[in-house]
Amino acid sequence: MASDTLTVIDNRTGRKYDVVIHDGAINATDLRQIRVSEDDLLGLVSYDPGFMNTASCQSKITYVDGDRGILRYRGYPIEQLAEKGTYLETAYLILYGELPTKSQLGDWTYNITHHSILHENIKKFIDGFHHDAHPMGMLVSAVAALSTFYTDAKDIFNAESRQRQIYRLISKMPTLAGFAYRHSIGMPNAYPDNDLSYTGNFLNMLFKMTELKYKPHPVLEKALDILFILHADHEQNCSTNAMRSVGSSHVDPYSAVAAAAAALYGPLHGGANEAVLKMLMEIGSKDKVPDFIKRVKSGQGRLMGFGHRVYKNYDPRAKIIKEIADKVFEVKGRNSLLDIALELERIALEDDYFIKRKLYPNVDFYSGLIYQSIGFPLDMFPVLFAIPRTSGWVAQWEEMLLDPDQKLARPRQIYKGADTRDYVPVEKRR
Ligand code: ACO
Repeated sequence: MASDTLTVIDNRTGRKYDVVIHDGAINATDLRQIRVSEDDLLGLVSYDPGFMNTASCQSKITYVDGDRGILRYRGYPIEQLAEKGTYLETAYLILYGELPTKSQLGDWTYNITHHSILHENIKKFIDGFHHDAHPMGMLVSAVAALSTFYTDAKDIFNAESRQRQIYRLISKMPTLAGFAYRHSIGMPNAYPDNDLSYTGNFLNMLFKMTELKYKPHPVLEKALDILFILHADHEQNCSTNAMRSVGSSHVDPYSAVAAAAAALYGPLHGGANEAVLKMLMEIGSKDKVPDFIKRVKSGQGRLMGFGHRVYKNYDPRAKIIKEIADKVFEVKGRNSLLDIALELERIALEDDYFIKRKLYPNVDFYSGLIYQSIGFPLDMFPVLFAIPRTSGWVAQWEEMLLDPDQKLARPRQIYKGADTRDYVPVEKRR
């Protein structure tokens, strides 16, 4: 018998099974052979709501070790990429597996820069939203709408077509976000400026006023670029799982990105940074922190920006973000909510409730404070997450499409509903 196997004895029947272990995993479909009787057509299934212990794919993109607080893209530690890299080269690395050479980076930057313009009809589409529409809602809808403009995107098994959509998606997400923001504040759109960097241009599309040429502040531009690097991918998180799952139906990538962005919108995922700021404002002052912690511990709400499904020691992104925050505050002045955040962190990190549950500040705990200091309104925070995560989504989507093991995502269920029964006419129902 090979040693890389798992021997299972089904005590219901006394039968013994050997299941192969490969890469530290068993194949869940191998459990199907474990049946109580010939009529048991389904066989044994594994029950795993929220995918707590289920690998849905093999991936070469991002490595996360939650216990040791490690995050690497294609083997490169996040700390090195944040210190030495740029968002665009990180996006290239995530997609193609290697850091680009000088000429590859030049071509990549050119292509991303030159796909940023949106069809003018998208403006009309965004104009249709109510003045107080949430920018993330507008972004989700507008990116889905892009699929109707690029019908070649349906050709998902054509490498050239996929490449074109990847350029477009990474390039147009900031423009869509800019249009959504300007719509919400009633300002005319600022068009992309090809002379600026990816993040510099994004700041231009948000904040350009009447000046002929927008000049991003280098410290803020760099801070945003680092934040984009930190948010570029995070293996099989909720939105990436949505991207892969929806993409597994072979829909075009714009529709799949819309689904991923919708997943990111939720307060337990990418909406958490917005929720953190709301929480800090609600607490209002440092002296109210102990009372707030008491309420969280008694089950009245959560400490937003704390806890992570994977990181049970510390979130390496949170550490880097704290350092960027200081640089941004030097330029923009100290964010008044920082004292409340620091006090929350101090008390929570000493408290048994949080220690026992391994709850530490996550990427969202401090990112919102930086975004607010740069000048972004709260409802733009999840948008600021969706823009850089697009490179991760499309990389994971392409990896999924080219993986021969992948199939239409379709989980099983354990049916607990009524047994078969006869239809009751309406007049006889009680
Ligand atoms: N505040 C207070 N208690 C918490 C928190 C929190 N932020 N997070 C988890 N807990 C408690 C739960 O109540 C639970 O306690 P119990 O065992 O007494 O019932 C225990 O810790 C485990 O919580 P789960 O929800 O089972 O853990 P899970 O791994 O599913 O949750 C999650 C991870 C969703 C991120 C959670 O920690 C949370 O809600 N955090 C706040 C929202 C947030 O910051 N999300 C951003 C995550 S990072 C990202 O998506 C980019």
